[in-house]
Amino acid sequence: MIELKSGLLVSKIRNGTVIDHIPAGRALAVLKILRIKGIEGYRIALVMNAESSKMGRKDILKIEDREIEEKEAELITLIAPEATINIIKDYEVVGKRKQEIPQEVVGLLRCTNPSCITNNDVEAITRFRTLKRRPLQLACEYCETRLTEDEVVRQILG
Ligand code: CTP
Ligand code: ZN
Repeated sequence: MIELKSGLLVSKIRNGTVIDHIPAGRALAVLKILRIKGIEGYRIALVMNAESSKMGRKDILKIEDREIEEKEAELITLIAPEATINIIKDYEVVGKRKQEIPQEVVGLLRCTNPSCITNNDVEAITRFRTLKRRPLQLACEYCETRLTEDEVVRQILG
């Protein structure tokens, strides 16, 4: 067991993934990106609003026996730019990934402009390019409408 500074006890995991340094309150949005609802049966520890020396408060997500794909890791950066993805094998951290926010986000988000082609042609796939990384600002490739980080979080939480 490891004890977080908050006094909460959370087990180390044997195999799987630990996503650490998630901004406080956003662990559920990370689960949404991973499309994990709970019924899949993964054993998961979710810690929200824990004390962190670097971030003040942070969320941590531990998922046993699940790997994170490259594409998923990219999407996680949109809502958790400082997140670290730790790969655990036999209780050891065997890999530590820190991903950068991608240049383009295809298909995940919707444009907030009702007259944008992506909201009017069922076959159009949304495409946003990254204008600014911190704080996040995306622009629709079709109509240049901007999306902020708050809006991205809202959309992901649905
Ligand atoms: N962890 C875990 N199970 C393991 C090994 C590690 O749940 N068997 C968790 C730790 O609790 C921590 C994260 O994985 O939340 C990263 O572990 P580690 O690299 O040992 O911690 P730090 O050095 O503090 O990581 P960083 O430098 O990224 O903050
Ligand atoms: Zn648009």
